[in-house]
Amino acid sequence: MNVLNLIVSRRSIRKFKKAAIAPKILENILEAGRWAPSGLNNQPWRFMVLSGKGKDILTKFTHYSYVIKGADKIILVFLDKKSSYNLEKDLMAIGACIQNMLLYIHSQKLGACWLGEILNQRAEIKKVLKFSKTLELKAVLAIGEPFSQPKKGKRKKLERLVVN
Ligand SMILES: Cc1cc2nc3c(=O)[nH]c(=O)nc-3n(C[C@H](O)[C@H](O)[C@H](O)COP(=O)(O)O)c2cc1C
Repeated sequence: MNVLNLIVSRRSIRKFKKAAIAPKILENILEAGRWAPSGLNNQPWRFMVLSGKGKDILTKFTHYSYVIKGADKIILVFLDKKSSYNLEKDLMAIGACIQNMLLYIHSQKLGACWLGEILNQRAEIKKVLKFSKTLELKAVLAIGEPFSQPKKGKRKKLERLVVN
């Protein structure tokens, strides 16, 4: 698939089949994230991968518990405050890192949903997962094999987006 088709056809997937992601594919997902651009090449992202019971702990912290429950793997994406030099730029870099992972996931005919609502409970999640003080949770990705073909996406027309 060409890159534009890949970008356009990617959808958020919230329902998954019961199928395991191969370890090499999982490694490549993180690899796709690792190669994102960042200001001063500071690479401020950090990852934690959860599956099984470890991932199901997260279900009580979100309205999207069914997405976490059905996913094979969860990737938590953190900002490493020790590596940070400019919050605005670091967050943009983390966005690029996440999009790299989403596109690679889609290229492998897997599906994912970027979960942001769960961040409302980030203090509680930190207490349970006990990750380092220097890490701040910025996103959660639920990943698995799509249960069905998603519908076509919707976007604003390009004319509305380009300003003169
Ligand atoms: C920062 C961010 C937070 C999001 N949070 C959630 C979420 O909590 N739950 C959810 O189901 N989808 C979430 N999404 C997915 C969006 O709803 C989705 O990307 C958008 O509706 C466009 O659909 P598409 O990804 O299928 O093109 C989030 C996406 C982004 C970028």
